[in-house]
Formats: sequence, C-alpha cells, structure tokens
Amino acid sequence: MYSEIVKEYFKNPINMGYMGYMGNARSIGIIENEVCSDIIKIYLKIGKDIIVDAKFEAKGCPPVIASCCIVTEVIKDMNIEQLKHIDRKFIIEELDGLPKEKEHCAELVQKTLYRAIDNYKNKKIRS
Ligand code: FES
Repeated sequence: MYSEIVKEYFKNPINMGYMGYMGNARSIGIIENEVCSDIIKIYLKIGKDIIVDAKFEAKGCPPVIASCCIVTEVIKDMNIEQLKHIDRKFIIEELDGLPKEKEHCAELVQKTLYRAIDNYKNKKIRS
C-alpha cells in the first residue's frame, strides 16, 4: 500500500492550484495518460533560469498528486539545469517508495516537469 507521505499529500496537497499568465515568466507542461486518463499540469514561474514558484493541477491517482506536491516543492529556487536530477527514482525515494505497479505515475509527473522546462527553453529561443 501507500506510504504515509503519499497518503498525507493526497489528503492535504501543497502547491495545488492554477497559476495565472505572466508572459515569458510562466511556463506550463501538460500531460495526459491515455491509459488511465489522468491529466497533469505543472506551472512554473521562472526568473533568470531560476524556479521562483511552481504549482500544479491534476486529475489523478494518489501517487500522481503526491509526486506533484514533492516536485513543485523541491524545485523552488533551483536553476533549470539542476532539474535533470529530478527523475523517477528521486521522486519515488522522496515519497518513501511506491508500489511497483504505480511507479509509472511518478515518471508521468517527471515528464510533465520536463515538458514545462522544454516549453520555457523554446519560448526563450523564440523571444
Ligand atoms: Fe494513472 Fe497513476 S494511475 S498515472
């Protein structure tokens, strides 16, 4: 079953909510899992390549909600180049483990984060 950390974040999620549009300062990553139809949105506010704030919205299972809480919390004040350390293994460790069949949920959150970063980098190249 789930760890206490997963249960607690599922009951009382942190950093959950919409982040309004702030031009180039805001980036979004969106991913939908076609198998279970969970949807994750991660919003990042970035200034000079530093994560100033992060929020998420999700319709998902407890591991998705808990992974979003962890990810949006630990990345604050990180440089975007440091985010490559936020991988599936890191998230699962921070959650005190996940059942094997739920590990893909953490990976989905990681992919959503990377998509938000890619969108930020692509915007920078265009502007
Ligand atoms: Fe769909 Fe967890 S069951 S991502």
